[in-house]
Amino acid sequence: MDLSIVIPSYNERDNIRPIVSRIHEALRDAFVDYDIWFIDDSTDETVDVLQEVEQVDERVHVHHRNDARGLASAVVDGFELARGTYVIVMDADLQHPPELLPNIYKHLKDGTDIVIPSRFVHGGSDGGLGPFRKFVSWIARVMGQIALRRLRKISDCTSGFFGLRKEILKNADLDPIGWKILIEVLVKGTYKTVHEIPYEFLARDAGESKMSLREQWNYFRHLLRLVSQSPSDRRFILFCVIGASGVVVNMIALAVLKYLVHMNDVVASVIASLVAMASNYIWNDQITWRQTTSDRSWNVKLPLFVAISLVGIAITTLVMRGLRDLHVPVLIGQAVGILISTVWSYTMNNRLTWRD
Ligand code: GDD
Ligand code: MN
Repeated sequence: MDLSIVIPSYNERDNIRPIVSRIHEALRDAFVDYDIWFIDDSTDETVDVLQEVEQVDERVHVHHRNDARGLASAVVDGFELARGTYVIVMDADLQHPPELLPNIYKHLKDGTDIVIPSRFVHGGSDGGLGPFRKFVSWIARVMGQIALRRLRKISDCTSGFFGLRKEILKNADLDPIGWKILIEVLVKGTYKTVHEIPYEFLARDAGESKMSLREQWNYFRHLLRLVSQSPSDRRFILFCVIGASGVVVNMIALAVLKYLVHMNDVVASVIASLVAMASNYIWNDQITWRQTTSDRSWNVKLPLFVAISLVGIAITTLVMRGLRDLHVPVLIGQAVGILISTVWSYTMNNRLTWRD
């Protein structure tokens, strides 16, 4: 079998026949041996529809689950059942156009490990979501990209539409929470090439979305779990949290020096920043990079840390100034600068200060 198409379905009665016929239509001239796997948790007549289709269509297989629920776990079951060299995952509700299948398959066959139809590359569109869902979806993607290095270059990491060479999952212990199976695949798979192709995420014709607040919470838990399992991602997050804690230390120190010690404002401000820097150094040394094997002493590490932080301050200010010239408000420019200098400081401290 060349290609298995895995489709999670939950109460999609009116979408089953249309999607099957559109898949056949789309792949008719593609010279590919394929089958279609529905991994179904439905509680309505979808179950009967699927049974009828399975009986008359030899390419269609149905795996109905009574005990399990959940989109991502359905897809994991699909990966286990699918016999194709390549697997393409798509929703049952036709928001993912089957007409893209030949193109995805072609990229896979040409050697790309993971192919992701994306709403956010040039030519794609997110038309199927309302403004609120668009916003939530944006937050979810940004959170994912901050938390997990492997998602950073992917524009549509929360997509439920993607194809892969099945072999890339050989050593992946897939254990997703909730819906977003693609982030699990991207973090745990063994692959070299990912390619995104544009597509238009369409509105639903029949049935309704099962997205809920609970699934958004699950996504957050899923991210946390993936971060905690990955040492380098965990380090970056700790570095950011400790950096933020430095702001609090800075303010407290300033308050103490100004109101209790009655120091001059400028001197108090400089000392408060130095105290925050020292505090950040200690936390990072004791927590973030606790597991490094290097036995360098603090009088090498601390000056490096301070030098990197000072350059970070310069980067922040330069970015703010540069953006201000482009008429970006100073506060926003500063925020962008802080983001860039955080990445700079993390990378340099990782490579120099706490190098293994
Ligand atoms: N087996 C199974 N079990 N399938 C499920 C379950 C479940 O518990 N919950 C939902 N599904 C199926 C639906 O039947 C549909 O085929 C697909 O998963 C997506 O569910 P929708 O309810 O249509 O979700 P959506 O349109 O809000 O979200 C889709 O678009 C997102 C774009 O941001 C999904 O494809 C997401 O994966 C995608 O990220
Ligand atoms: Mn949908």
